[in-house]
Amino acid sequence: MKPWYFQNRGGVMTGILVMLLPMLFPSLFTPLTHASPSVFSEWKAPKPRHLPLLKSALQLESSNAEQSDLWAPLEDQGWRPCFESINAPSLPQKSQGYIQAFLDGGLNQQRMGICDAVAVAKILNATLVIPHLEVNPVWQDSSSFMDIFDVDHFINVLKDDISIVKELPDEFSWSTREYYATAIRATRVKTAPVHASANWYLENVLPLLQSYGIAAISPFSHRLSFDNLPRDIQQLRCKVNFKALAFVPHIRELGDALVSRLRYPHGDTGAPSTDYLLEITGVGDKQRAGKFVVLHLRFDKDMAAHSACDFGGGKAEKLALAKYRQTIWQGRVLNSQFTDEELRNQGRCPLTPEEIGLLLAALGFDNNTRLYLASHKVYGGKARISTLRELFPLMEDKKSLASAEERVHIKGKASLLAALDYYISMHSDIFISASPGNMHNALVGHRTFENLKTIRPNMALLGQLFLNKNISWSAFQQAVVEGHQNRLGQLRLRKPKQSIYTYPAPDCMCHA
Ligand SMILES: *[C@@H]1O[C@H](CO)[C@@H](O)[C@H](O)[C@H]1NC(C)=O
Ligand SMILES: *[C@@H]1O[C@H](CO)[C@@H](O)[C@H](O)[C@H]1NC(C)=O
Ligand SMILES: *[C@@H]1O[C@H](CO)[C@@H](O)[C@H](O)[C@H]1NC(C)=O
Repeated sequence: MKPWYFQNRGGVMTGILVMLLPMLFPSLFTPLTHASPSVFSEWKAPKPRHLPLLKSALQLESSNAEQSDLWAPLEDQGWRPCFESINAPSLPQKSQGYIQAFLDGGLNQQRMGICDAVAVAKILNATLVIPHLEVNPVWQDSSSFMDIFDVDHFINVLKDDISIVKELPDEFSWSTREYYATAIRATRVKTAPVHASANWYLENVLPLLQSYGIAAISPFSHRLSFDNLPRDIQQLRCKVNFKALAFVPHIRELGDALVSRLRYPHGDTGAPSTDYLLEITGVGDKQRAGKFVVLHLRFDKDMAAHSACDFGGGKAEKLALAKYRQTIWQGRVLNSQFTDEELRNQGRCPLTPEEIGLLLAALGFDNNTRLYLASHKVYGGKARISTLRELFPLMEDKKSLASAEERVHIKGKASLLAALDYYISMHSDIFISASPGNMHNALVGHRTFENLKTIRPNMALLGQLFLNKNISWSAFQQAVVEGHQNRLGQLRLRKPKQSIYTYPAPDCMCHA
């Protein structure tokens, strides 16, 4: 069983049973008011939990003989994107009507919903209305599709595949979110099963289109199967995800500026100065000049509480997280029936900032490594990431790299902040995530598509290693290196039921 915690509380969970929870118990998923988000009266600064390892890492780090291939790009694995199908794309001659989709979840779940909405519209020969992004109770961002994605690019890239409109024509202007929120409506499709087949849509939604000229699908997340679909539909989904969805220009521009500051910290643009090259390469690893790692670190209270693991904040923290679990999920957290040790053994605990730091150090990253932290608020704040910063002093994030003026258009907007992190992650030499989730999966898939290096932490192995309190650094390091040899971005073929967005081969990639 892989699924083990919420990616967020808007219903984004990997397990299907768990996915249904918000529908079954909507009251659990209402917005909560974080009483005192920054006051950690409940909480003592977490101490490092792996002090002996940490000491060794700090001593050895600088003298680490870095593996020479650590920073090298992935080798060509012989796979190429191929989603322009052999048949010339064809627009249906006559539209069957309008498809509306209402998408919940955070940015990365909505992204997949958009791709699926295009596919469903194509299956039905319908015209797609630009999907509506619901406000997520946790992230509270009301940004629309057009605020996040370049809508003209989207329509243009897909113009030979399907018809897309930004808004419904006047005769259908009654078909709004409010209209569906207030009563049962004949044009609303409420019962799409999770991972529904193409036939399900042809049998259940096409008749609605034919009767009313419009169908509004909500909920829609995870409502289209990954299996048994025609190849051209699969390829269309990839074309949307990897080609049609581009962020708005101001996100791309800010992203480019930050990437450039990460690569050339001593001069804003252009080639790095010679001084800088000497300085950063230090002991002679020329390969890595200007390179950086993105570390995606989701470590908020929501996730910490839901995982039910012990994160070293002592009794007070444990109580606080238990209380949070009780308030939000009323005890229905499957993980909480296990002990911390059991959870760790099964690899079900997200890595703490300290643990991800030790992982990176064991893999051979030293204290000259430039690390970009893709992260929202970290539960426990600065204290929680202090050990990570000790190991990697050249750690940056949006705030440290961009001025307040530059951040003014994204401030407080979770989806736009996530979009910026996604963009920077796609431009990094190496990407690593401290917890499997939607962002991790989305980037694993996208980076596979572009043959970019991605480290996938071996959670079960690490859980077990960290439980061994007197493991030596060299034993730890050896186990970590061996346990990650095949987790550095090597292409993995999609198996049945797996997501085409996480595993784009072989559906959307061809072996050369
Ligand atoms: C890395 O560690 C070495 C040895 O402890 C130290 O001299 C150097 O200043 C450190 N580099 C950074 C960027 O902190
Ligand atoms: C969609 O259009 C194609 C060709 O244009 C046709 O073969 C197919 O039957 C149509 N499907 C529906 C549901 O209208
Ligand atoms: C720690 O090391 C000691 C001595 O080497 C050994 O007896 C003990 O079993 C070890 N403890 C664990 C938890 O591995």
